[in-house]
Amino acid sequence: GSKLIIDTDPGVDDAFAISLAARSEDVDLLGVTSVFGNVSLESTTRNALRLLALNGRSDVPVAAGAARPLVHPQQARAGHIHGDDGLSGRSATLPEPVRDVEPGGAIKLLVSLLEAADEPVTIAPIGPLTNIALLLAAYPHLREKIARLVVMGGALAHGNTTAAAEFNVWADPEAARRVLVEESVPCVLVPLDLTHRCAVDTGWLGKLAASGPVGAALERLTPDYLASYRKSLGIDGIAVHDAVAVAEAISPGILRVEDYPIEVDTTFGPGRGSTLVDRRSLGARGEGEGGVAKSSVQVAVDTDLDGLREFLLT
Ligand code: BDR
Ligand code: CA
Repeated sequence: GSKLIIDTDPGVDDAFAISLAARSEDVDLLGVTSVFGNVSLESTTRNALRLLALNGRSDVPVAAGAARPLVHPQQARAGHIHGDDGLSGRSATLPEPVRDVEPGGAIKLLVSLLEAADEPVTIAPIGPLTNIALLLAAYPHLREKIARLVVMGGALAHGNTTAAAEFNVWADPEAARRVLVEESVPCVLVPLDLTHRCAVDTGWLGKLAASGPVGAALERLTPDYLASYRKSLGIDGIAVHDAVAVAEAISPGILRVEDYPIEVDTTFGPGRGSTLVDRRSLGARGEGEGGVAKSSVQVAVDTDLDGLREFLLT
């Protein structure tokens, strides 16, 4: 199968995403790199190791990446959504890690995996984009070893961390701008607008729990996350944002994408951390003023919702 690296800050939905890739026969999961985000780097790294152990994939190397954003201090974590340990306070229900993190850190692991790969590798960044920004800045020649990035991040209509900003972009807007706007790496952006529509309900979680020991363990991580969605979106279910992006990384085309120019707001106004996706018609965009963005990404806009939910259960 095609080769995949996941860059992650687990996180309940990251846990779903990692497990999906770890058990998929359609991808070769080369490595997992951790980043600060939902909780501290220490916790996200430990969670990544535990999740691979849960899936019987301790053959997959894990390396710890950035502990903080590129430029400005981190302004928000998501412990109130994912629990203090990132996994609804239940990370201890997962198996203990059976391997150590790779010495030398995430950038070193990314570089060595990409250099060794005999075909371009897909990278799925499902946390703040700090590690990927550092990689591309320091090792520009490795761009050609990246088949594409499938990024969970951004929001077209409204954010989840501020009115305008989605969490992963909000957590490090300068890094997100570097990756999504300044670097010309092929990129699919999976925004909140779609991941919210792909939310799964408690019936789906019941099916997951019944699917086997891994599914049961994942379902046990959801209570706090479920409660936060009941409060924020008024739904009896959860958004599994990162798993939607990883589904596309595993099965290209499962999401329908459209090409749009993009900007990331790195100012300190109310729009900080927002993704400005220019959905005007080509004619309306014009060539001069108002045609602001210099870069475009493939924005995931739609999918077969029930088909995707089935895929996520496999
Ligand atoms: C993103 O933020 C995190 O809380 C989730 O894990 C996901 O990557 C959703 O906005
Ligand atoms: Ca995440």
